[in-house]
Amino acid sequence: SRSINLAVIPGDGIGQEVVAEGLKVLSAVLPQDVKLETREYDFGAKRYRATGETLTDADLDSLKQHDAILLGAIGDPSVPSGVLERGFLLKLRFAFDHHVNLRPSKLLPGVATPLAGEPEIDFVVVREGTEGPYTGNGGTIRKGTEHEVATEVSVNTAFGVERVVRDAFARAQARPRKKLTLVHKNNVLTFAGHLWTNVFNKVAEEFPEVTTDYIHVDAATIYLVTDPARFDVIVTDNLFGDIITDLAAAVSGGIGVAASGNINPSGEYPSMFEPVHGSAPDIAGQGKADPSATVLSVALLLRHLGYEAEAARIDEAVATDLAERTGKPARSTSEIGDALSVRVAG
Ligand code: IPM
Ligand code: MN
Repeated sequence: SRSINLAVIPGDGIGQEVVAEGLKVLSAVLPQDVKLETREYDFGAKRYRATGETLTDADLDSLKQHDAILLGAIGDPSVPSGVLERGFLLKLRFAFDHHVNLRPSKLLPGVATPLAGEPEIDFVVVREGTEGPYTGNGGTIRKGTEHEVATEVSVNTAFGVERVVRDAFARAQARPRKKLTLVHKNNVLTFAGHLWTNVFNKVAEEFPEVTTDYIHVDAATIYLVTDPARFDVIVTDNLFGDIITDLAAAVSGGIGVAASGNINPSGEYPSMFEPVHGSAPDIAGQGKADPSATVLSVALLLRHLGYEAEAARIDEAVATDLAERTGKPARSTSEIGDALSVRVAG
């Protein structure tokens, strides 16, 4: 019989609240014969304050045993900036080789967007997840002086670029429009940019049905606002992808509905699914957070594990729930989770 052995990391702030709803919906959508086992981990600010640990080797060994990881959010004002980002989130993404950071954007009916008119928005950003300026390859000299120099070197390997570009081509090939846009800055970043462009053009030959396009990242921010319909699949580096996916979330319903997957396509390590939003300490503990982004991340998780029908039911339930919100009083985090659970089960 089938089973899912899930690691659950609620984390900090609203992470706790939204993950509870994600699990509620997951239990409701799974057929009887699928055994769901979960183990909760207490990573985050509280554990760091108590023990000084963010993520140990033993933690990684334990996490490795699971089929997938569901993460809420990590981060708290009591912990200096960078400690949990580098010590937990990026450490995990790097250790488990999450080189495909998948961030879909779809503007659903009835959902507000700051954009004019009724734009069609339905694209996926494939953000490289283990290289670029995120590798921590840099340094500072003459620190604290007027002559301080800091470097933050962007690392791009042919191996790393090719595998993420190929993954993006395969995703584009599987979508109706079959279009892939490379977003970079090859007019200025002539070393990394040329590597990306050359690899992109080479891999394109293996996917003759996919229409290709190239846009500089600055221009891409314009098109994401003025003509988001032009995008189907976007592939880009780690930092450009970080920035444009926040913009993408802002135009397609906001951070309350932005889902993501940190994927290790080979399955050598468990993939991790998380809402794009953070721990939002300002509204934590009040039942105000929208769990939709987490619930949609659960759909990405199910799709990744091969439960396509269940994933589609969740997508549909969230779409219907969002469409029916207009004019109704705001609901709490758990009320939204309950409503979604009823829909996916029905
Ligand atoms: C994200 C976040 C992270 C990133 C931070 C918290 C390290 O902004 O998931 O987009 O930059 O990748
Ligand atoms: Mn980000």
